[in-house]
Amino acid sequence: MDTDGYLNRAKHSTMDAERNCMKKSERSGAFDHIFATTVKEQIGKAGYGDWRTISAPDAVSLGYGFPYPESLPEDDLIEATETVLTDEDEQVLQYGGGSYTEQLETFLADRAHSRGIDCGTSNVLVTNGGTRAIDTICRAFLEPGDSMFVEGPTFMGAISVFRNHGVELTSIGVDADGLDIDALAETLRLREQQGRDSPKLLYTIPTFQNPTGVSLSMDRRKRLLELAEEYDFVIIEDDAYGDLRYTEHDLPPLKALDDTGRVVHIGTFSKTIAPGVRTGWIIATEEILAVLRKLSAGGTNTFTRSLVAHYCTSGKLAANIDAIRRAYGERKDRMQQSLETHMPPTAEWTEPTGGFFVWVTLPAQIDTEEMLVDAAENGVTYLPGSMFFPEDTGNNSLRLSFSYVSPDEIDRGIAALGQTVREWT
Ligand SMILES: Cc1ncc(COP(=O)(O)O)c(C=O)c1O
Repeated sequence: MDTDGYLNRAKHSTMDAERNCMKKSERSGAFDHIFATTVKEQIGKAGYGDWRTISAPDAVSLGYGFPYPESLPEDDLIEATETVLTDEDEQVLQYGGGSYTEQLETFLADRAHSRGIDCGTSNVLVTNGGTRAIDTICRAFLEPGDSMFVEGPTFMGAISVFRNHGVELTSIGVDADGLDIDALAETLRLREQQGRDSPKLLYTIPTFQNPTGVSLSMDRRKRLLELAEEYDFVIIEDDAYGDLRYTEHDLPPLKALDDTGRVVHIGTFSKTIAPGVRTGWIIATEEILAVLRKLSAGGTNTFTRSLVAHYCTSGKLAANIDAIRRAYGERKDRMQQSLETHMPPTAEWTEPTGGFFVWVTLPAQIDTEEMLVDAAENGVTYLPGSMFFPEDTGNNSLRLSFSYVSPDEIDRGIAALGQTVREWT
């Protein structure tokens, strides 16, 4: 046996001894010594989905980034189920699925093409949602200890996925024009000067960002691509809200401006059809996709994918997007008006033109995590800003979502928030 073999055996016999020392009753729920190191580091910390636990039954929830209930297309999905089962019999329920399964890639490739992305079906990988897409990309590029950059604040679900990969996260600030490119350039330059590696990945939500609602300006989009080339990193472009635009002004996805293949673009139907279909996609070069396909063992849920394909190709997606854009636009306007009416002058907030969210910044001494208890008593809940940063910061900010509740509930919720902030100021 070689040295490594002896070392491994010695390591395992120590672990066996540790396990045997435990009484059987102690073992259940106490497997920390067996979990992977990256998992051990996360035990006891907030993880994916923990934000859902912040609720107060009688309060207006401005915390949930969920679609409003009436937007979920139940009847159309019943019709899609009947159609695909009738058209394809058992084939649609088999491992490989039937012809509808393949149609989704074609639909997505055509749609991406119409938004300026140079894309065929060989550039599209369907995934079980956007979060799974992020995880698959991480598995292709990251090892524990690697560094990556995110926006600060950013989508907390993504932070949790990155942490599971044991990487060192650095956040770069965001302002009204999206990711602060000057700050990014300066951070990259300083790291280089200190002899540190560039990040392998930069994760960005350039259009209608979660949680701020802001979009990256055209000039910054171009500069971001130049920096990725100069410092040799890959960009994950999360376009979860790209279709939910409430003005005429449209910006191209980063992927449409990418001539080097450095942008890996992801999307999801969670916001435009329903979170429950949990279907998303990745658009990337054939070389990157070849790696990602190998990592997506088990594939996707081909039955759901067939329903989604029928829904999309029969024109229902486009009609639904038109309808929800109007409804969300109305909710967004109502929230902005309500903030103007009820918030004290010391509060600031973003003015998004799409997506689901508004980001509020309060005076520095207010801790929004502590304030949440009083807010809930006054009749509103939100998500504290600190959840959206990988570092320990953001305590005086909070995220409001206008997607889930009705315009009248938005008014009530913002009135309760205004009252709470005044009490705390
Ligand atoms: C920016 C962003 N990406 C991805 C997701 C999740 O996508 P999915 O539901 O498909 O996992 C969300 C949902 O909140 C999001 O805000």
